[in-house]
Amino acid sequence: MLTKEMNERLTQVGPGTPGGEMMRRYWHPIAGVVELDENPVKKVRLMGEDLVLYKDRSGNLGLIDEPCPHRRVSMEYGIPEEEGLRCPYHGWLFNNSGQCTEQPAEPWNSTFKDRIRTKAYPVQELGGLVFAYLGPQPAPLLPRFDLLVWDNVTRQIGVTNLPCNWLQAMENSLDPVHVEWLHGYYMNYVWGKRGVANPERFASRHKKIGFDRFDYGLIKRRVVEGNTEEDEPWRVGHPILYPNVLRVGNSGSYTFQYRVPVDDENTLHLTYTVYRPGIPVPPQESVPVYQLPLYDDHGKFLTEVVLVQDFFAWASQGRIAQRDKEHLGQSDIGVIMLRELVKEQIEMVEAGKDPLGTVRDAAKNVCIDLPQEEHSYDANVARRQAEQMQGVRLAQSWDRFSPITQYVRGLFLEAESKSQAGEPLLEKNRAPEVPQGEWHRQVSLLP
Ligand code: FES
Ligand SMILES: [Fe+2]
Repeated sequence: MLTKEMNERLTQVGPGTPGGEMMRRYWHPIAGVVELDENPVKKVRLMGEDLVLYKDRSGNLGLIDEPCPHRRVSMEYGIPEEEGLRCPYHGWLFNNSGQCTEQPAEPWNSTFKDRIRTKAYPVQELGGLVFAYLGPQPAPLLPRFDLLVWDNVTRQIGVTNLPCNWLQAMENSLDPVHVEWLHGYYMNYVWGKRGVANPERFASRHKKIGFDRFDYGLIKRRVVEGNTEEDEPWRVGHPILYPNVLRVGNSGSYTFQYRVPVDDENTLHLTYTVYRPGIPVPPQESVPVYQLPLYDDHGKFLTEVVLVQDFFAWASQGRIAQRDKEHLGQSDIGVIMLRELVKEQIEMVEAGKDPLGTVRDAAKNVCIDLPQEEHSYDANVARRQAEQMQGVRLAQSWDRFSPITQYVRGLFLEAESKSQAGEPLLEKNRAPEVPQGEWHRQVSLLP
């Protein structure tokens, strides 16, 4: 339980709020690069600020204030020029540092433009995403996390607009036991009503859950029935990149789930999936973006899809969960650790320090490999991944909305047959395991 005041402190993202100032110390993905190829100007709302992202005719990206400083017309309707974005109303032109460079309707010898600037933020492309930084200078480096920079992979970006605050999504990532209920018991209930028996999906009970801190956030560990502490889900676990990214996946299919605050009550959820089947994969010309819907044709949550089960669990708590009215148990220890961390990192920023996970050393930012359980793959694993991409398994997965699922399935099948023919699969990347440290906490749930 939190007081109302603390709840606001942890969840508010607008400029000048404690939480908003902390969130502004990180680069956030705001679009797929391919979206700007289709339409070079895109309206973006990020942490309560209305902005316009554009690509000019030289290929440079810019992120500027939505209203034109002249008479407030939306720059969403702007015209990309050789350098910068031109307002459609009277032609004022702005470059990507926000400087006004032309005012064609003003007298020929006017210097007025030199004194006009619009708000502008730095943006960078990486891994098919456009990232923005809204914090103070000097900006930290955009972290080159492994999934963004690996080769021999195929990527895709699923976009969902969530009607709730970002922290609800992140708390779910520190809540291992929901898996056996929401994606196990409830999943079986939903599919059972349709006459599909599916008893094996995420059904194992949690015997033990544990959490640690590491350089980039938190590690989540679990022991389920049939496993021991020697197995990877406990020994290695998987990371939550502070403040707002979950890494999940296994065996050649990995995902960053970015929970980007649009404002206090809305979140842009990017499901960034990277398939690494273990064979040479042709580079993608562009990383496709698809809509990962929340609702079915009747406007009801798509409760039969694993990720949408998470989405409705977050969104149905309300736009901003009333944490002063909740009752936390011992299995909520990860949620509590996350809240403590957010509180602490807000204080770090207030004290003028860099918060957790800030990267400023280029030598350490070539490729940041992250620990991940079940990283291995072989012919059996490749076949299993291909099997996930058909039938009921596909209907339960976000892959059913993706434009490249059958192409990816083909890659895994190819990897399986090559491996069975005796060809070695590509060497796998493996990050060092994070040992249990001074922050380690754990709870036993079953004897
Ligand atoms: S409103 Fe933009 S140039 Fe006039
Ligand atoms: Fe979940």
